[in-house]
Amino acid sequence: MTEAWRPDDEDGSRRGSSGPVRVRVPAKINLHLGVGPLRPDGYHELNTVYHAISIHDELTARRGDTLTLTMEGEGTGELALDESNLVIRAARALAAYTGLPAHARLHLRKQIPLAGGLAGGSADAAATLVACDTLWGTGLSRDELAAIAAGLGSDVPFLIHGGTALGTSRGEAVSPVLARPVSWHWVVAVADGGISTPAAYAELDRLRDTGAAPEPLGSTDELLAALRQHDPGVLAGALGNDLEAAALSIRPSLAATLSAGTQAGALAGIVSGSGPTCVFLATDARHAERVAAGLTAAGVCRAVRTAHGPVPGARVG
Ligand code: C5P
Repeated sequence: MTEAWRPDDEDGSRRGSSGPVRVRVPAKINLHLGVGPLRPDGYHELNTVYHAISIHDELTARRGDTLTLTMEGEGTGELALDESNLVIRAARALAAYTGLPAHARLHLRKQIPLAGGLAGGSADAAATLVACDTLWGTGLSRDELAAIAAGLGSDVPFLIHGGTALGTSRGEAVSPVLARPVSWHWVVAVADGGISTPAAYAELDRLRDTGAAPEPLGSTDELLAALRQHDPGVLAGALGNDLEAAALSIRPSLAATLSAGTQAGALAGIVSGSGPTCVFLATDARHAERVAAGLTAAGVCRAVRTAHGPVPGARVG
């Protein structure tokens, strides 16, 4: 049992922050997304390498008498701001864990596209946990926040930690990949509209049942060895995503996006997560700008961004 926190200290002063708490949280890509069999609980066993990149959402939490959410940026007008929103669910999960009332005024500034395969919703949930933890003065450890995060979604714990990390089980079991600090440079092709994650997994199951899916990627060993070599050319050869076949089956036009990126000079391109965002590896920041210009000129996607990784997970400031 968790002992309930009291909203006021012994001397009557309020715990936590009286001013606004601003948290930045990154998008994630999967350098390797190995999808195993469907489990009885409806999830697939994963072997994945998560990587946090420098496209950020920002969540600001202020004191309030109820729980409210407003937003601006990507997806405004499309994303429901009610109890179904992962931000609201995250605030309520932290409140339930700590025994505090879920009182906060939350504002989200979104740059990560909705249903894009970049874990934008999961990122916002992670940001909410970190922001409300500071606002309410509950002072949980990152591991405690990650445990609450696991109940909100498979990749929410990774967005608490950030960096580059191995994900196993349904993706919620995260351990950092220790490597010498090196930045990788990416070009991100944002598509029109999204792909639902359950739909992508279901399509992969269907392709596998009919023998139409490529061989499963399996272990992350090759990718982890490639990361240690610090050579973008080697990393390019090790990138892989079992969900790519499903995303291409749902959205065949992504094949043109992938080939436009390699024609623009990228070392490699993959669908990110369940798609439809595609990410391309470049040798350095200037190369990434050239690839981005080529992709923009090809007119195969809604927006093109450059990014680097790894970056930290959800952080105040
Ligand atoms: O955990 P999360 O809520 O993000 O998962 C969304 C959906 O994606 C799940 O309901 C499931 O259909 C699919 N999924 C899966 N296997 C995983 C993670 C997600 O099948 N390891």
